[in-house]
Amino acid sequence: MDLKHNFGAGPAKLPPAVLETARRQLLDYQGTGISVMEMSHRSKEFQTIASKCEQDLREILSISDNYAVLFMQGGATTQFSCVPLNINRSDISPRAAYIDTGFWSDRAIAEAKRLTKVEVIAESRSQSYRSLPLDLNAKLEAARERLADTQYLHFTDNETIHGIEFPPAYDFKNGDCPLISDMSSNIMSRQIDVSRYGLIYAGAQKNMGPSGLTIVIVRKDLIGLAHPQGPIPYLLDYKVLADNDSMANTPPTFAWYLCGLVCQWVKDQGGLAAIEAMNEEKAKILYQAIDESRLFENPVDPAYRSRMNVPFVIKRSDPDKKIEKAFLAQADKQGFIGLAGHRAVGGMRASLYNAVDLDSTKALCQLIRQFDKDFA
Ligand SMILES: Cc1ncc(COP(=O)(O)O)c(C=O)c1O
Repeated sequence: MDLKHNFGAGPAKLPPAVLETARRQLLDYQGTGISVMEMSHRSKEFQTIASKCEQDLREILSISDNYAVLFMQGGATTQFSCVPLNINRSDISPRAAYIDTGFWSDRAIAEAKRLTKVEVIAESRSQSYRSLPLDLNAKLEAARERLADTQYLHFTDNETIHGIEFPPAYDFKNGDCPLISDMSSNIMSRQIDVSRYGLIYAGAQKNMGPSGLTIVIVRKDLIGLAHPQGPIPYLLDYKVLADNDSMANTPPTFAWYLCGLVCQWVKDQGGLAAIEAMNEEKAKILYQAIDESRLFENPVDPAYRSRMNVPFVIKRSDPDKKIEKAFLAQADKQGFIGLAGHRAVGGMRASLYNAVDLDSTKALCQLIRQFDKDFA
């Protein structure tokens, strides 16, 4: 039974069934007499845990053999550095293209600028990050020649703070320039065609497990391109990770094990088709409750609203944030946690990751409706 309605943005709610299995196995993993936490990463038992997790991930996301799956550390933030350090084909100019759609794109761009030459091809900062960049594909088409001589095109599939998500199967006009996606906050929430990407990365702590583990899915021809460009820290080199089955040093074993349990849970739910349908339903009812209210609004262009992170604000004047504070206090009293917006933008935010169920979402809709009735 859930004790709280956890709508936090991350580290986020894990499926209760996963936590229950972990609890049962905590002290004695399958009769070994020790915890997974105490087990050598080279042991037979952990090797089985690790490879089953990878196989399940490959099955869930339909990842073909020409992609490597790397289990890394350092969070998605470390990937902001790894991507420009690793993707450096010697026959292409040392420069990268980025699309800026919010806080996390911005962070990725800032780090890339320290490491390579960056062109921001399109941005929605000028629209206060309430939509995708205007004429994005026209801009990509206009940059076609430059993109042909650019290492990669990076974008953030779901902006966790601003609540903007690319529509599924968005048809990027990137030509042959490898598409690189930060999917930290929407990986495994819907079906994707991995073959469209050169590389996908995600911190695990929203839809895949606890923090401490970062998943990188990389097309094999993009591995091993770092060396001619100069020194790269050993553990940031995709080739080192790929050549050592992600065990070039001690990996985050317990996080990896939990990620495996989450993958099994996703399969038990009926895979990504079922997960996706549930996520759409949750997002639909929550946006509806917000849109129908007199007090609250979601500031994002409806065409690009995130199914995972739903920011909402008080739409009337709210001196000293009185209404906002009253809503959060009421939410707290009723067992809701994680509803305060990110400190960069304020307001409220509900994260609807896979483990948040329909009942909790309905309870949040009810809270919004009731508060709106009492306060508006
Ligand atoms: C889309 C996105 N990218 C990157 C990050 C940074 O991730 P980490 O804290 O794993 O470095 C986050 C964190 O919330 C995120 O949501």
